[in-house]
Amino acid sequence: MIFETHAHYDDKAFDHDREDLLNLLPKEGIEYVVNVSASLDTVDNTIALVDKYPYIYGTVGIHPSDTGALNEENFLWLKEKAKHPKIVAIGEIGLDYYWDEPEREIQKPWFERQIELAKELGLPLVIHSRDAANDTYQILKNSKADEVGAIIHCFSYGVEQARQYLNMGCYLGIGGVVTFTNGKKLKEVVEYAPLDRLVLETDSPYLSPVPHRGKRNTSLNLPLIAKEISRIKKIDYETVVSVTHENARKFYFREGLSK
Ligand code: NI
Repeated sequence: MIFETHAHYDDKAFDHDREDLLNLLPKEGIEYVVNVSASLDTVDNTIALVDKYPYIYGTVGIHPSDTGALNEENFLWLKEKAKHPKIVAIGEIGLDYYWDEPEREIQKPWFERQIELAKELGLPLVIHSRDAANDTYQILKNSKADEVGAIIHCFSYGVEQARQYLNMGCYLGIGGVVTFTNGKKLKEVVEYAPLDRLVLETDSPYLSPVPHRGKRNTSLNLPLIAKEISRIKKIDYETVVSVTHENARKFYFREGLSK
């Protein structure tokens, strides 16, 4: 059974068939889904999903591109939301230097504040980092984020950065990009990284794997990602599925907990 570690099923791309699709997932071998928040609106939508579906868990956090909306008042609100028993991580949080807005001096302190929140609540981190490898690494290191652990979602850097993040105890989230013909850098990372540090994700509705590239993504495409990891690492498909499942359970459910 597959563990989907990162999806956005509250997205409007699922408005016309969300219920049918989500009901189908367990029948198609997707055992757990973590629905990831990214903005203030998506926090409540995520909580509605985790309350409705027993196999869906969630995260609470504000994506770097949305940190301009944060203030002391809604940060306290966020903290209360994160105490929900099916909220299993703080995320997706981090740095995004691909976009100029909000400026880095807004992104950074809210990234740090959300790491502190995670540590206070004893929750691990789901990290979004784009064109910001060094600053993300430094902030995680200075904040002692390894005390709670982190998934670097949609890992997009090279082997050298992967080595740094792996040494800090992070997991790497591997999604559809690994199947792209121009995904050579990620294929190298997957070859390099130990299987017990990888987790499967789609980032649905984005980043559909080949041959569905450009179309809406769903967790039903996870086998395509697991197959590509299997091919690159020369490890059988079933092992890729079971080890990544175990990794995700350890990370999100904190080994030994039954929730
Ligand atoms: Ni995402």
